[in-house]
Amino acid sequence: MKAIVQYQYGAPEQVLKLDEVDRPAVGDNDVLVQVRATSVNTPDWITVAGVPYVLRLKSGLRKPSNPVRGTDVAGIVAAVGGKVTELGPGDEVFGSLWDGTLTTSGTFAEFAVAPASQLVRKPVGLSFEEAAASVMSGLSALIALRDVGGVGPGTRVLINGASGGVGTLAVQIAKALGADDVTGVCGTRNLELVRSLGADHVIDYTRENFTRGKQRYDVILDNVMNHSPTPTARVLTPTGILIPNSVGNTGGFFAGLPRTARAALLGRGSTDVRFATCVVNRENLDALAALLASGDVKVALDSVHTLSEAGTAVARMLGHHARGQVVVTV
Ligand SMILES: NC(=O)c1ccc[n+]([C@@H]2O[C@H](COP(=O)([O-])OP(=O)(O)OC[C@H]3O[C@@H](n4cnc5c(N)ncnc54)[C@H](OP(=O)(O)O)[C@@H]3O)[C@@H](O)[C@H]2O)c1
Repeated sequence: MKAIVQYQYGAPEQVLKLDEVDRPAVGDNDVLVQVRATSVNTPDWITVAGVPYVLRLKSGLRKPSNPVRGTDVAGIVAAVGGKVTELGPGDEVFGSLWDGTLTTSGTFAEFAVAPASQLVRKPVGLSFEEAAASVMSGLSALIALRDVGGVGPGTRVLINGASGGVGTLAVQIAKALGADDVTGVCGTRNLELVRSLGADHVIDYTRENFTRGKQRYDVILDNVMNHSPTPTARVLTPTGILIPNSVGNTGGFFAGLPRTARAALLGRGSTDVRFATCVVNRENLDALAALLASGDVKVALDSVHTLSEAGTAVARMLGHHARGQVVVTV
């Protein structure tokens, strides 16, 4: 089958190449998916670039231990393992191969194998592109806001980085969970986009520093970590929760990791700091599918690329100014 392979770390357009590889083997509890679309997420650009270097301890010291990137998938079931009963050939599905490691066999390929527990039926009316774009970003936003932040009626939420893949879904999910008031922080050219997604207020970070504002928030989902966590925590209500959600996409990787460490330290004091992780399971996918099927949450697509353009797609994400999610179709 055709797949995008990576045999060294480096610039996406140089190290990601189209090649022929063997189809992955299907285990008893697995599903073979004919990939129709996949999307680019943080684990992909981190593993392509091989930075921060410390993560190479997980992904492979000299080169990625698995050459095929990509975790999110939408496609058609081609075959199922012997113990899979809930899905069958021909079903249109979406989900993710993400297992918390940087070594998963990927979806930048004609076929991918996922555990059946990490796929659900794709809502009718949602395109393969939209479905593939929604998984890691949508689950991260949902888990952070619903489970970690406890967002619901009566809460005032701020989303820093409201115009990226996670942020565009987070603004809508916060509103769908019933938040009274949602503020989105993004750059000038994306203010209208974030407003159109339902944000009650938008802040242009090039003109205004939200950490110096008078408004206080019950939940801050920080997808950028461009501020030190202490000033960010200052704009929390007394019972407010700070959710740091970035390895650092501004000021280089070495800005994000120390800020995350400082946030963890801050959480040992009186500030409520909680971290969110993306857990892919059927329950979370069903909840996401319901939000998407209801029309309350729409997927913003930054750009759609063909498989052979995967390098361009990953480079787009590495720029950290995508408007919504970057998608690759197969
Ligand atoms: N917890 C998890 O499991 C999980 C899963 C997935 C992702 N994440 C994290 O979520 C974060 C967001 O990911 P993403 O895919 O949505 O997109 P991203 O490309 O990492 O971030 C895009 C957002 O950052 C903003 N931004 C860029 N430069 C900025 C600057 N100098 N100052 C302020 N804001 C700036 C962009 O605004 P403009 O473009 O409008 O300038 C946009 O809103 C990432 O750090 C990622 O690591 C976590």
